[in-house]
Amino acid sequence: MEFKTKAIHAGQGPDPAYGAVMPPIYQTSTFAFRDVGEPGPFDYSRSGNPTRKALQDCLAALEGGTHGFAFGTGMAAESTLLLSYRQGDHLIVHDDLYGGTYRLLMDVIAKNGVDVELVNLRQPDKVEAAIRPGKTKLIWIETPTNPLMNLVDLGAVAEIAKAHGILTVCDNTFLTPYFQRPLEFGVDLVLHSTTKYINGHSDVVGGAIIANSEEHAEHVDFLLNAMGTCAGPQDCFLVLRGLKTLAVRMEEHNRNALRIAQWLEEHPKVKAVLHPGLESHPQHELAKRQMTGYGGTFGFRLKGGQEEAFQLLRSVKLFTLAESLGGVESLIEHPWTMTHASMPDEARRKMTITEEVIRISVGIEDCNDLIADLDQAMSTI
Ligand SMILES: Cc1ncc(COP(=O)(O)O)c(C=O)c1O
Repeated sequence: MEFKTKAIHAGQGPDPAYGAVMPPIYQTSTFAFRDVGEPGPFDYSRSGNPTRKALQDCLAALEGGTHGFAFGTGMAAESTLLLSYRQGDHLIVHDDLYGGTYRLLMDVIAKNGVDVELVNLRQPDKVEAAIRPGKTKLIWIETPTNPLMNLVDLGAVAEIAKAHGILTVCDNTFLTPYFQRPLEFGVDLVLHSTTKYINGHSDVVGGAIIANSEEHAEHVDFLLNAMGTCAGPQDCFLVLRGLKTLAVRMEEHNRNALRIAQWLEEHPKVKAVLHPGLESHPQHELAKRQMTGYGGTFGFRLKGGQEEAFQLLRSVKLFTLAESLGGVESLIEHPWTMTHASMPDEARRKMTITEEVIRISVGIEDCNDLIADLDQAMSTI
């Protein structure tokens, strides 16, 4: 089955009770047993729920995995996995990460005694050098990164990890399985904030993990049930509805974003555009090799600093000043004071997420209107 067909049909036949074409919202905490000691396919909604299962099976099919798991938020998915590590374990994590992931790793996981090491995964030889035999348990990848759009060579990092028996996870939120499928490059688990493109309509927060084997799935399933971090049925229904149009939305996001990136690159008030679809991107060749599109979100650097950035943010009319990304409407934000504000200044400066960086999530409106809005806002700087 091709991607677009799977997005609409995988995990979802007509409902067995009344033939509903859309999986119903099974808004129930518990399920009747058939007899003493004989539960039906579901017994309690934390452990499993039919609406959640439909979403999970669809996500697994789209990522090319064996099992999917739906969580209450992207951070709930991350916490569930990361809280299973203990004192003495060593985790290698990309040194360029979403601010919330960085906060969880540094302010929660590391404080529990887990050794969290930030490593430049853009250079696979640094991964090999960072591995501590017997102690390194996990390599955490985010590619492209938020908002700098740096890339990690998935195949190269997965190969090194496999040789040492280390689990790999890739946050695939920015591209979705429509443009990148990390499991095909040997990564073990894929993670999503489904809040973003997967749902696509800015009306749900959610998360997901997709596993590629029975062994990894059992581990995630155990953790989800033990920690109780699952998504509720209403949210699963909404995400599933959004997922059906993922392919067509991603095509539009991708087209609009690339056109705007090219337009910005020519703009005299822009210092640099951070978009892997541009030939000026230092990892453009890798992008073409492991991604089939570039998504709809990217960053750029203005000439100037915070003052120019704030002026732009205050002048846009069609772009909404808001955090998050991946919805049908276009958003603009300032990572230094918004999405990445929770990181220490030193860490942000090291990553070069500085005051002049702007991130846009390009929606699926008419691109001419979006460019006209940016144009008038830029003229006020
Ligand atoms: C790349 C990435 N991963 C994870 C998350 C966390 O997801 P959530 O906000 O759904 O908890 C985000 C949120 O912005 C993100 O951008």
